[in-house]
Amino acid sequence: LRDHLLAAIAACAGLDALDAVRVQALGKQGTVTGLLKTLGAMSPEERQVQGPRIHGLREAVTAAIADRKVALDRADLDARLARETLDMTLPADGVGMGSIHPVSQVMDELAEIFADLGFAVATGPEIEDDWHNFTALNIPESHPARAMHDTFYFPESAEGERKMLLRTHTSPVQIRTMLAQKPPIRIIAPGRTYRSDSDATHTPMFHQVEGLVIDRGITLGHLKWTLETFLKAFFERDDVVLRLRPSYFPFTEPSAEVDVGYTIEKGKRVIGGSDGWMEVLGSGMVHPKVIAACGLDPDEWQGFAFGCGIDRLAMLKYGMDDLRPFFDGDIRWLKHYGFAA
Ligand code: PHE
Repeated sequence: LRDHLLAAIAACAGLDALDAVRVQALGKQGTVTGLLKTLGAMSPEERQVQGPRIHGLREAVTAAIADRKVALDRADLDARLARETLDMTLPADGVGMGSIHPVSQVMDELAEIFADLGFAVATGPEIEDDWHNFTALNIPESHPARAMHDTFYFPESAEGERKMLLRTHTSPVQIRTMLAQKPPIRIIAPGRTYRSDSDATHTPMFHQVEGLVIDRGITLGHLKWTLETFLKAFFERDDVVLRLRPSYFPFTEPSAEVDVGYTIEKGKRVIGGSDGWMEVLGSGMVHPKVIAACGLDPDEWQGFAFGCGIDRLAMLKYGMDDLRPFFDGDIRWLKHYGFAA
């Protein structure tokens, strides 16, 4: 039986055949298993002789099957290696290099510029509640500014719970920061914002960067210097001119909209000089009510804040005239503006 089984194992040309032999010999009804069962009925003397022989047979068959399996696996692998060759001489397809999207690039630049001025980066949720997005910012329920924001609301939640919405600006991060850390505070908060609005210069999702400084004795002068330093660094020009226009935001008083001057060179707007003006951000001194809403004493702490469209900044810096392709993911557009290889 031993020679017969070993020969059968050696003759197996594949794993299926080998398994069949294994079942034949070692399976429940197998020949070797059958022999093992006879041991029980033997006399002790007989068992002493037959036991080692039968167990030896089982071990020999088991080992032979294992060896054969290794050999078959190896043959199988060799065959696959021989079959699945790669022609290394074929010319390769061009591998497109990835690149950083202009918006991400501008966000990185902003973080870098403001880091030099001692600002940390703060973040907040894009899904906000109406208290952080409006109420704490001195925009009460009935305030017309709520309607002006074209807010995306989530379906009505339970009575008494805060209404959830997609934040319409990064200003709620002001509130979250003031609630979470003690002054002095110096942060910027870049991120996505949402308004139900769409044309060449508005997309339903867009990006803003918020700036917030809270300390003792902060004045409009600090705000103006900070914005001037920031915009000169961002546009990499010393001749950037700012114009502060009195304006209104519920959460700042006084408020100012900030324009940068441009000149026309070869029919294109170039930042620098003051032939014309373009609005780039909203700003002002943080309203005492906002400071109080965050549990701080407005008599002790003052500050300034600003909010700026990042996409708008990128358009100005890189000479793009339509905002929508920013979010189309068209690689030809990225290439055209030098953002992809
Ligand atoms: N949150 C305002 C907006 O989105 C901008 C702003 C921020 C104005 C901070 C003043 C201070 O229009």
